[in-house]
Order: sequence, then structure tokens, then C-alpha cells
Amino acid sequence: MSARMTTFARDQEGHATLGGTRLSTLLEQAKVPTPAYVYDLDGIARAATQLKQAFGARRHLVAYAMKANGAGSILRTLRDAGTGVCLVSGGEMKVALGVGMAPNRMTINGVAKADWEIDLAISQGLFAIQVESLEELTRIAERAKALGRPARVGLRINPGVKIDSHSHIATGHDAAKFGIPRVDVARAFERIDASEWLTAVGVSTHVGSQLPTPKSYVESATAVCEIARERLRSGATLEYMNFGGGFGIDYGPEVADAPAKFAQAAMTLAAEHGLDALELVVEPGRSLVGPYGMLVASVRQSKEGPTRRWLMIDAGMNDLLRPALYGAVHRIEPLDRAPGSKEWRVVGPICESSDDFGTHAIGDPPPRVVLRDTGAYGFAMASEYNGRALAAEVFSKNGSVVHTSPSPGVDSWVERRLKA
Ligand code: LLP
Repeated sequence: MSARMTTFARDQEGHATLGGTRLSTLLEQAKVPTPAYVYDLDGIARAATQLKQAFGARRHLVAYAMKANGAGSILRTLRDAGTGVCLVSGGEMKVALGVGMAPNRMTINGVAKADWEIDLAISQGLFAIQVESLEELTRIAERAKALGRPARVGLRINPGVKIDSHSHIATGHDAAKFGIPRVDVARAFERIDASEWLTAVGVSTHVGSQLPTPKSYVESATAVCEIARERLRSGATLEYMNFGGGFGIDYGPEVADAPAKFAQAAMTLAAEHGLDALELVVEPGRSLVGPYGMLVASVRQSKEGPTRRWLMIDAGMNDLLRPALYGAVHRIEPLDRAPGSKEWRVVGPICESSDDFGTHAIGDPPPRVVLRDTGAYGFAMASEYNGRALAAEVFSKNGSVVHTSPSPGVDSWVERRLKA
């Protein structure tokens, strides 16, 4: 089943729209210059609701991986849609707590958590601290003892499954730094059981990102089910199984299965293993926000060389790192008319050859372009490299702007560098 997971479209006059309103109208309302990220909060809410509905009456937790986009407006939207969060740092935890997410709906991952992050997780009573090594278990037990409060830990296991994705976003194979290898799982449970400061509450995994179908998701989740079953057979209790995130989205011609399909596959698998009593946790990031955010940039100039023609835009790899880092391709189209056939190599202003967004059929140079499906890992991975300001972010709902987070501006960068 193919799924149309975006609210991006074009109106009859060819203008790009998001959530039914022209992107150019939203930018006008927000009064921000380009580059600017524009998000459709309704699309995000709907994506979360649809995923939750796919679980039906089954006990579940959709823990949004907020590393994909930690904007307060997005988190508040997801909180209202009933999701929790999957965290990777104390900074993220503070933002999630700040928007009123319930700590008992939060998980935290990370191969090298700081003591203060572990302390915060224990004292806030997080749903689970997902442990990624035997060594970490010892540290968490020490912190729990110091705080006088037992820690709720889950084992993040490394299932030893390779996925067909970019090597930078594959996490569940034997050479990855993530998770506890299966051979160490028994020892990990022994260590937990031997400590009065640790309670084993679950088993988790995350095999990697941008999965087109549930195939490798199910493969790695099978390892989680097997471990959970064994643990229960030993007479111990468990509260949850967490199969991770990684649901793919449509960046171009290839269509990914809808998140609901992953949820159904997860439920079927859990049922096959007789594990319906355990809460089922999933950690989607990209699929809840990626298709509902667009980066709008202005064309600064063109340049025609002997072998290539370039279109230079005012967004660079500092605003959107994915193409430079992973060779990712985001469709780039004119903002206010349909794409033409003339192809351009679209590049940014940064002094790096990798500041290159690839070749796109655009037609004659338009004043502004839209870089599609940039709601996840766009702003979240942005930097001020080359003395550039972070982009503005615009949040829309019901077809109009409800919040604008302006760019801090270049002068803010100048001031901080001068003080450094
Ligand atoms: N859970 C864990 C433990 C993770 O490490 C991740 C992502 C997720 C959930 C969410 O994965 P998602 O559903 O978003 O695929 N910057 C890269 C993606 C890195 C993902 C890291 N971990 C990109 O732009 O493609």
C-alpha cells in the first residue's frame, strides 16, 4: 500500500501549499526572511493520531524521537495528540518536561549518558532509562544508590541486523556502537537482578532509519520478543517491549510503507510470541514530522559554467545537512509555480563543495524555491557554520501561522564569537 504522507501540494495556479495554504502566504504572515522552515502542525497531529489509532485498544506508547525536531510547538502538538518522547540527552529532557510531557511517558537512550543526565532521569521517574552496555548498568546503579531511588532500566539490545540504508543511519548491526550484544543480555539481567537499585522494566532496540518496509524492523523486533519471552519464562516481570523507530518517508520516487503498517507488523509479531500483555513502545521521529516541514529559500543568483549550471540559494548545508552528510536528496521546486524541465545544480553559499543539494528540474530561475520534506533532521542538525544565522521557523495550523520563531540573526553570532 502506498501512502501519501505529506500535506504539501500545489494549488490550481501552481503555487506550493502546505496544509492547504500557500507557503508564500504563510511566510508573508510570519514576516520572516528566507531561509525559513515552515511546518504544518495539523499534519503532524494527524500523523501521530493515525499511528496511535493503528494500535487500537492495545496498550502502547508512541515515544516521539524528538531529536528529529525538538521545537516546542511541535512537542506541544504531539503531547496533545497523546504521544510521549524518546530522548537522547538531558537537554532534550528539559525541553520535554518544559512543555509538560509526562515523565512516565519518556524513554532515554544514549551510549554515553552523563551522570547529571542519569540523575535527572532517575529523579524525574522516567518510564525507562534504556541501557546500552553492561558498563553503563554499573554507573546507573551507583547513581541510583547516591540518589536513594531505584532506577527503571530497559535493555537496548543490538540485534545484529543489517539494514539497507545509508551506513550513517544503520544502528543495529554488530559493528555499531549501540546497544547490548545478544551474547551479553543474560549477564545484563544478572547484574540488574543482583542490584537493589535497578529494576528491569523492558527490552528495546532500534535497527536504523528510513526503513521502506517493516521487514528488517520485524527482524530486529523478533530478537526483542525472544529475549522478552526468555525473561518472562525465568519468572521475572517486564512492563514493555520497544521496537524502536525508523519508519521511512517518501523523499522522492520511492514510496515507503505508512507508519500504521509498521505498527500492525509490530502487533502481529508480539501476538505471535504471546506477548500481548506487555506494553508496546515505538520510537518514530522522522515519520511524524519530516513530511510536514518545508524549507523555503531564495535564489541569490545563477551561474552558467562550461559543463554545468548552478542555482545558488540562500540556504546552505548549515541549514540542511542531510545531503552533505548522507548524500540525501530532497526535492527542490519553485515556490510559486510548477517545476519546469530545465535542470540546475542547486547549491548553497557555504565554502564547501559538499554544500550541494543535487540536480533538480526547475525551469527558469524562480525567485524562491522549496526544499521538500525537511521537517525531520533539518533544523535539528543546523549549525552556524561560516558565520550564518540559524533559520527562522514558522508553525501553521488551520491554514494560518500560529507561531514564529525568528532567526537569532547574524549579529548574535558575531557577538558570541567576539566574546569567545
Ligand atoms: N530511536 C532511536 C534509539 C534512535 O536512535 C532514532 C534515530 C530513532 C528512534 C528515530 O528514528 P527515525 O524514526 O527518525 O528514523 N540524522 C539522520 C537520522 C539519524 C537517526 C538517529 N536515530 C537523518 O537525517 O536521516
